[in-house]
Amino acid sequence: MMNGDQYPVTRGRDLNHVAWLYDPLVEKLSFGRERRFREKTISCMDIQDTDRILDIGCGTGSLTLLLARRITAPGEVIGIDAAPRMIAIARQKAAKKHSPAYFQVGIAESLSFADASFDWVVNSMFTHHIDSGLKEKAFAEMYRVLRPGGLLLTADIDRPTTAMGMLLGWGGRYLLLQPELEDNLLGRLADFMRGAGFVEVEKKAHLHGLVSFFKARKPE
Ligand SMILES: C[S@@+](CC[C@H](N)C(=O)[O-])C[C@H]1O[C@@H](n2cnc3c(N)ncnc32)[C@H](O)[C@@H]1O
Repeated sequence: MMNGDQYPVTRGRDLNHVAWLYDPLVEKLSFGRERRFREKTISCMDIQDTDRILDIGCGTGSLTLLLARRITAPGEVIGIDAAPRMIAIARQKAAKKHSPAYFQVGIAESLSFADASFDWVVNSMFTHHIDSGLKEKAFAEMYRVLRPGGLLLTADIDRPTTAMGMLLGWGGRYLLLQPELEDNLLGRLADFMRGAGFVEVEKKAHLHGLVSFFKARKPE
């Protein structure tokens, strides 16, 4: 389905309405540790200079832009997000930094890319915005657009391992009325990856008792 402006519509929680607030809010809520989180994400990926990378639910493109600094042509880094205003901000940031990263509005559950067209698919703090049915579709789409042997990196909320993680995670679930968080908090992300066909699903790191970094591979 398309909205009035001809963008694909998702039933996931897109952040179009708060796009303008996203970067300042992330900076405040992470107590200035956002850059470390991004570096941690990239450190879980062994990227080659000419890889083609797709960042799904890229938001304002902070991770996409950092990834683009590692890549040279014919490699390419593309960010997609369901929220047109997030993409508009990402494009402004890219223009300001003279980055070759490319951004487009798109939805994870129905990607507009050809089969086997990426070496890496990455998504950061995205899956807790979509319900179980969309998670199934989104991971199936990530699998489809990866080349055989291609790699997935998902950084997102996972089963809490500390009291603070429990409080933040389950507090978020019930105080913010966000049922989409539940799969993550119950530790089901790896099941969605395996269900889509990914193998070698591995937890590379875990931060703040709440966020895990999963790496997985599409079989050759
Ligand atoms: C918490 S933000 C994460 C943004 C960015 N990846 C980051 O690490 O800062 C989640 C993003 O997912 C987007 N989103 C929600 N549902 C989506 C969908 N079905 N397809 C693509 N993006 C979606 C939202 O608009 C939002 O920008």
